[in-house]
Amino acid sequence: MVGSVLLDRMAAEGDFDVIEPVFFSTSNAGGQAPAYAKNETVLKDAYDIEALRQCEIIITAQGGDYTKQVYPQLRAAGWKGHWIDAASSLRMEKDAVIVLDPVNLPVIQNALAHGGNTWVGGNCTVSCMLMGVGALYKAGLVEWMSTQTYQAASGGGAQHMRELLTQYGTLYAEVKALLDDPKSAILEIDRQVIARQRSLSAQETANFLVPLGGSLIPWIDSDLGNGVSREEWKGMAETNKILGQGEGFGTTAIPVDGFCVRVGAMRCHSQALTFKLKKDVPLDEIEGMIAADNEWAKVVPNTKEATIEQLTPVAVTGTMNIPVGRIRKLAMGPEYLGAFTIGDQLLWGAAEPLRRMLRILVD
Ligand code: HSE
Repeated sequence: MVGSVLLDRMAAEGDFDVIEPVFFSTSNAGGQAPAYAKNETVLKDAYDIEALRQCEIIITAQGGDYTKQVYPQLRAAGWKGHWIDAASSLRMEKDAVIVLDPVNLPVIQNALAHGGNTWVGGNCTVSCMLMGVGALYKAGLVEWMSTQTYQAASGGGAQHMRELLTQYGTLYAEVKALLDDPKSAILEIDRQVIARQRSLSAQETANFLVPLGGSLIPWIDSDLGNGVSREEWKGMAETNKILGQGEGFGTTAIPVDGFCVRVGAMRCHSQALTFKLKKDVPLDEIEGMIAADNEWAKVVPNTKEATIEQLTPVAVTGTMNIPVGRIRKLAMGPEYLGAFTIGDQLLWGAAEPLRRMLRILVD
């Protein structure tokens, strides 16, 4: 799915005009290459190290297992090309840079100047968050941040999105007759819905393991065994690495922590943010900094009307916009700032930083 979005974005931005693409497949070597192919119209074998070695740049969204298998073989074979990857496997490697150039171009440029050649897209939640509020980090204003996420089904993959929709359909079908009757009792509808949710089969919950349609799941990714989910751990680890801060950079990491929750949205990750700022900064200055930081971050006025129109997954899906709204000081004190932000998990959360890294290398 990320690969398809990546190809679409590369085509839309004319990336294929400035490279000589060769397409590889893990499952369909010998098949027809996508329409963007120029000279090489047949898919090559993505496990063929010799063929891969001929490439100056490899960009992959194939997944962590592929990266773990192929990347070490390529490097062991002496390949010095640029590896641009969506998978998380290499993200925290010392020599890998997490790429999000509107936020960390200086970190990327510094790595390039020192021979860096491994570039990895960040966790979708982290990338979307930093596209929205990176300005506050760049200004050195953040003492700590807590994030409560509302993550879409697409973060799990295509099958997860299908499973969510199928569950919604199953629940609707269960009570359609009652819903069609305006005199039916809502508590009876509710009783039948919860009974159906609780009786969903292992097959009907194969991807999320429990029902998601009409529910939520406050755990994403693996259990680190210390009460923290891997998705929550990434929040602090990746935010700091993207910013070139913390361990490995000789500075103190900014604490970032909170809870990551799967909700029944399709492909936009949303998050409520709480900041402890290092000083009291007026709201209009904060809004100005966020709006001026990059061309995609958009400040949404903190009104009901603007919020429900502009600050929802439905409004953001399929766009490059990163709206930041609900910006207000919290009751805890003038240094405590609240905000809410949303990003398309497949665009800024996955494909876009990769293709932009490609352009940094070839332009
Ligand atoms: N781990 C994310 C999620 C997606 O499950 O939503 C990839 O960054």
